Amino acid sequence: MDRAGLELVYGREFIASRVKRLASEINHDYRDREIVIVGVLKGSFMFLSDLVRELQSPVKIDFVQLASYGSGSTSSGLVEMRKDITLAVQGKDVLIVEDIVDSGHSLEFLCQRLLGRGPRTLKTCVFLDKKACRVIPFEPNYVGIVVEDRFLVGYGLDHDEKYRNLAEIYSLR
Ligand code: IMP
Ligand code: MG
Repeated sequence: MDRAGLELVYGREFIASRVKRLASEINHDYRDREIVIVGVLKGSFMFLSDLVRELQSPVKIDFVQLASYGSGSTSSGLVEMRKDITLAVQGKDVLIVEDIVDSGHSLEFLCQRLLGRGPRTLKTCVFLDKKACRVIPFEPNYVGIVVEDRFLVGYGLDHDEKYRNLAEIYSLR
């Protein structure tokens, strides 16, 4: 289904197949070790809910919300934590789950913050990777789809808080 002003980029079946593939990589790597999942609000909520249903490890789930200064789709180097997790991560296997990585600033900031709390391991899982847009070097451990540089909405991703509920991924026309 195409929507006004939106061009379909990835449909439900393709998204589901990429989520399954990510989950099997994660299941393979963590075996049955407990994972503390840290979702980045708000964009990750739909991907996270699909991903965790495919995981075999016991999981605990918490969320952070980040704010970045600067306008538009990508963040500046100035990121702050607007909402922190309440779970303790010291000695835990922590997996950050995010909708999309662009400049890399947000995830680099979050990784540094969480590393300061002494997790046993810390990895990152992003559904979409705008690999060519990196401003600082940042390599996520798990990537669903490498995407080109265009603005995407749906499957959690917003434009002015709209479109997060769409089950498919679209580009703004
Ligand atoms: P980074 O800090 O530049 O890597 O930015 C990551 C954040 O920018 C994501 O969590 C999104 O909130 C936002 N973002 C980047 N590209 C897009 C896009 O194409 N659509 C919607 N949000 C985006
Ligand atoms: Mg986000």
